Amino acid sequence: MNKTVVSSWNDFDPLKHVIVGRADFTCIPPSELATEAKVPEDSDMRGMWGPRPQHTVELANEKLAGLVNLLEQRDIRVDRPEPIQWNQEVITPDFTTGSMFGCMPPRDVLLTVGKEILSAPMSFRCRYWEYLAYHGLMQRYFDEDPGFRWEQAPRPRLTDAAYQNGYFDEITIAERLKRTAALDFVTTEHEPLFDAADVLRIGKDLFCQHGLTTNRRGMQWLQRHYPDHRVHAVNFPGDPYPIHIDATFVPLRPGLIMNNPNRRLPDAQRRIFKANDWEVIDAAQPAHDTPPPLCYSSVWLSMNVLILDHKTVVAEASEVHQLEQLDKLGFEVLPLAFRDAYPFGGGLHCATGDVLREGSCEDYFPNQVAGTQI
Ligand code: GLY
Repeated sequence: MNKTVVSSWNDFDPLKHVIVGRADFTCIPPSELATEAKVPEDSDMRGMWGPRPQHTVELANEKLAGLVNLLEQRDIRVDRPEPIQWNQEVITPDFTTGSMFGCMPPRDVLLTVGKEILSAPMSFRCRYWEYLAYHGLMQRYFDEDPGFRWEQAPRPRLTDAAYQNGYFDEITIAERLKRTAALDFVTTEHEPLFDAADVLRIGKDLFCQHGLTTNRRGMQWLQRHYPDHRVHAVNFPGDPYPIHIDATFVPLRPGLIMNNPNRRLPDAQRRIFKANDWEVIDAAQPAHDTPPPLCYSSVWLSMNVLILDHKTVVAEASEVHQLEQLDKLGFEVLPLAFRDAYPFGGGLHCATGDVLREGSCEDYFPNQVAGTQI
């Protein structure tokens, strides 16, 4: 096998090497301040915790294997993390919590920017050790690619000061929406926090969703860490549980982005796309009224697609409206059954982490406008 080369600057250039997660040992973690804010009041996950039922783990792994198979048939190299027994307590000098989460969604923790893969300072206590599942891969990439930068953002302490206590206690969806639109989130500005899946990479520009899992300090840290990039803060009023940008704002190819029509990017933040001739279109409606059982995410995983190159995209097989929209946009659409994997941490984009895409760091937004940049 060829030696690893790490390099990826966006989500749409030709994909050559990728990490696909695994569902083994995944737990529903016990409630903590950060997860309280994310799990909807009427969710079937409320009050539950512990290892997920084994038959659902097996179904999810089957779907993940289907994705691996599709990618390998297209000569895309695939690596897998090493799951650890997630059903163990997390104990640090600052907190304890009853279990960990899992390693189905590498996208949440690993941020690939050029030749660097960075593990993110995530705000869920149950996800504190998640990066360990990727340690063996990172060591291998480090040994095989002399240019690979193996990085980690400052480990957060996640003391109680990192969260607003009582945030979202017994409030209506309308009140939640008011709070999230006003940029009032469960995480405080006590220390830098972000999930990698809140960071949208488009060449020289990184668009970060300010939400439940990413704070301003996290974005400031990213800007200082990547001085040659421009880091932008974006937010999407209309999402009562804003975490992770990839079911909300998804670039399809240079010049084209789909936006969740229930979570529109505000006009002031849209200006940079207009000024650089990028078209922002509404994503198609999801085909389902509800997510699958025991799922953190919304029905909008319909738009959580994996782009293989400027003309080819993998989308969930039952999402008929999304498939049709992508087809009309001129893509070769590869439908893949994946819903059984959703409860383990998301859709096709979430379940993957970039190692190598062709292409270089382009400046897609030479006309910068005031309004978003950190
Ligand atoms: N945060 C992804 C979604 O559920 O829409």
